[in-house]
Amino acid sequence: MNQKMDIYQEIMTFCRKHGLIDELEKSFLISESDRFNQSNISRFGLNILDAVHCVYDTKRTNFFIDEIYKKVSKGNVVLEAGIGTGILSFYAASLGAKVYGCEINPDVFKLAQEIKNHLEKKKFIPNSSVEFFLHDAITFIPPNNVDVIVSENIYTGMFFEYQVQIMNNLIKYLNTNGICIPKKIRSIVSFSQVAFPNNPHNKELFVTSPERNIKISHRILSSPYEYDEIDFTNKSNIFINKTIPILIESGGLLNSLMIYSEVIMPSEKVIKKDDTTFLNSEIFIAINPKIEVQKGDYIELNIQYRYGNKPQDALINIKKLN
Ligand SMILES: C[S@@+](CC[C@H](N)C(=O)[O-])C[C@H]1O[C@@H](n2cnc3c(N)ncnc32)[C@H](O)[C@@H]1O
Repeated sequence: MNQKMDIYQEIMTFCRKHGLIDELEKSFLISESDRFNQSNISRFGLNILDAVHCVYDTKRTNFFIDEIYKKVSKGNVVLEAGIGTGILSFYAASLGAKVYGCEINPDVFKLAQEIKNHLEKKKFIPNSSVEFFLHDAITFIPPNNVDVIVSENIYTGMFFEYQVQIMNNLIKYLNTNGICIPKKIRSIVSFSQVAFPNNPHNKELFVTSPERNIKISHRILSSPYEYDEIDFTNKSNIFINKTIPILIESGGLLNSLMIYSEVIMPSEKVIKKDDTTFLNSEIFIAINPKIEVQKGDYIELNIQYRYGNKPQDALINIKKLN
């Protein structure tokens, strides 16, 4: 078998030859919030360019590969939920694991199959070590119980993506002492004042994106508050409903919630908000009408949503307490 970097290089070269990297770079001209708002992730998952974007974000992908190197051993059975290009499955197979993967999007599934055939032919992975299924991970039943589940269906605040519902299904098939990559996600909220380019709709989403050179100019009005932690190794409620009193530390016009998430690996490695470009960037949810706040005010935030829904579908209420 070839060295660690070679599989990565081979997949990048495959995607480049098929014109996918060029197409991805062109797609950076559309804002991520517009794209996510237009897509229907529950029915189709992400599209091919999102799968390629995952590999293009080398920092994101290397966090997961490092964890696979730490946690997967020869003879393990690994299940990947949402395979994308299949890169994480291929790394697990190169370490001697038997790998099952499922993917909801037929075009992405086809791409992963083509890359799998290519890697088998070039002897990067053993023949038949990887089996992919075109199936929704929320209802998938793997052929055998597994030692490791890999699922990167993560979005800041657990909006848009269905990691919770996926893990609630798949942990039923995890052996005792089995592990989940990643293990947890925690989400943090602050009130902020954003210099919006126009008058945004209430709950309109704004996302920073280094690749698109989009920065959201803002001022934080309160200290960060950890409002949610989800442990993927246990079944979780799919709804969140939190009421939090938050102290204003700097006066101004409260016109948005800034939310960011941190992803925790089984090795306890934490992927922080600025560590990758495509995984858990900070997001801003507009609050309209805005409210004027002074230092020392207590503002009660009530936030309710179903994991996987859009921020526009959340219930967000803000009330001054003093
Ligand atoms: C963020 S990508 C990650 C791809 C790959 N795991 C990686 O790390 O490079 C998530 C993938 O999961 C797929 N997906 C989303 N929801 C799914 C579901 N319910 N069942 C199976 N696949 C799903 C998407 O189509 C996409 O290919």
